[in-house]
Amino acid sequence: MAKKGIILTGDRPTGPLHLGHFIGSLQNRVCMQKEYQQYIIIADMQALTDHSKTPEIVRKNVFEITLDYLACGINPEESTIFIQSLVPEIAELTMYLLNLVTVSRLERNPTVKDEMKQKGFGSNVPAGFLMYPVSQAADITAFGANLVPVGEDQVPVIEQTVEIVRSFNRTYGKVLVEPKPLLSRISRLPGLDGKTKMSKSLKNAIYLSDTNDEIAQKVKKMFTDPGHIRAADPGKIEGNSVFTYLDAFDPDIKGLAMLKENYQRGGVPDSETKKRLAETLINLIHPIRQKRMELSKDMGAIIHILQSGTMRAREKAALTLSKVRSAMKIDYF
Ligand code: TRP
Repeated sequence: MAKKGIILTGDRPTGPLHLGHFIGSLQNRVCMQKEYQQYIIIADMQALTDHSKTPEIVRKNVFEITLDYLACGINPEESTIFIQSLVPEIAELTMYLLNLVTVSRLERNPTVKDEMKQKGFGSNVPAGFLMYPVSQAADITAFGANLVPVGEDQVPVIEQTVEIVRSFNRTYGKVLVEPKPLLSRISRLPGLDGKTKMSKSLKNAIYLSDTNDEIAQKVKKMFTDPGHIRAADPGKIEGNSVFTYLDAFDPDIKGLAMLKENYQRGGVPDSETKKRLAETLINLIHPIRQKRMELSKDMGAIIHILQSGTMRAREKAALTLSKVRSAMKIDYF
């Protein structure tokens, strides 16, 4: 079947995937894989930009993330899952693209800025970390991708990719493709603590590999409405993470609308909204976790999927790189 376009998307293997990944981009990837030629990059080189001293974490999570993808319904017959560092064409393209970007533009990238603040890098930021949006532009353009399913926090990186593509095409001729981000209905899930974003480094995440007990425990500790002290008090929906999650994951829309009305009127304890959320999340995650456990019994098969995906990805990237080299007049012989 002819596909509608090319998708390049992926994740940093610094931890297993959580609900923010699931709702922000994973679901889109599963839906889109039939219609689009989809490449999923496990960005281990990008992970090393802030985990250079702990490579064992990166190595372990390459496999964890692959299990997450497959357990959620990424079909290796439809999608090509591959490992970034095993496609050296990406690193090569990164070197060329770096000349089309200034350091100050990278320092102004809102995604980079936020992450630098969060990690406390200041002026001691590793050069590799500062330039990771350029390496991400290479990930995307090496595959000629026109669509990139990502969470909201990644949008500035895609914007910078578009700038780099325009600069490349103006300078050397039209070779690279301009990508667009594909956002989901809920492109930013708050953390359990009510903080803006669910993230491994903020320790406020529910993982697709969490057990039913872990899920229930985490939901119990969730941030609700600080003004809702007694069950009889009227409660607020806005900014109440329990309801944000229910909106994202509860399939019973009518039942949820009723619960919201009652909660706002007063008389509904947080234990009730939390019980409903824990059940909803367990219904979603439990089958994924079962599938994950099943898949992890045959790591040979997982390695085979990564090997053949990486081989296919390399072929595709090599085609782009040969066009890039000839446009840049460095195709000497
Ligand atoms: N930066 C993304 C993240 O932190 C991971 C990533 C690397 C990516 N390369 C990509 C996402 C290319 C989309 C496209 O999650």
